[in-house]
Amino acid sequence: KKIAILASGNGSNAEEIINYFKHNPKVEVACIASNKPEAYVLERAKNHEIHHFSFTKKEMEEGILEKTFQELKIDLVVLAGFLIKVPDGLLHLYPERIINIHPALLPKFGGKGMYGLHVHRAVKEKGEKETGITIHYVNEKYDEGRIIFQEKVEVEEKDSPEEIAQKVHALEHKYFPKVIESLL
Ligand code: GRF
Repeated sequence: KKIAILASGNGSNAEEIINYFKHNPKVEVACIASNKPEAYVLERAKNHEIHHFSFTKKEMEEGILEKTFQELKIDLVVLAGFLIKVPDGLLHLYPERIINIHPALLPKFGGKGMYGLHVHRAVKEKGEKETGITIHYVNEKYDEGRIIFQEKVEVEEKDSPEEIAQKVHALEHKYFPKVIESLL
């Protein structure tokens, strides 16, 4: 099975996924694409000798992702910190085969503008006792697709948003590759 990863930033989740499947002959991370040419995730792809590229909004609207993923025979599209909306064409091409990870317990703390530290600050401000991760199918609305998996972690009153982020990232790294494997 072949995976494509879409990411806009650092790509620590992408790195975990790459390493998790590195010695599995049945699963290949075949492509990593980013809307940000400077995203560190592309450097990671290069280091692992994985096909990678960045694209403009215009190229995306013209169907570069649909075209490339079809050519590569991608089975599953994984969003790992991809901060723009997935084009409709891709949604239609991959029904229930595009997944996203969100750093909170959806349906709480989701939607436009809710990413990265914004999420963890909001969790702290609300005085939440727990937060976590949500892995879900992607549909045309931000963070509203059917939930596949959630895992919780305790938030202590003294935790800063950065500390909450660390806890959540640890959960993401632990579970995201496994959930992908189970879907494949
Ligand atoms: C993760 O926290 C993920 O939940 C969110 O974006 C972040 C990406 O982190 N959607 P990284 O680029 O994988 O380090």
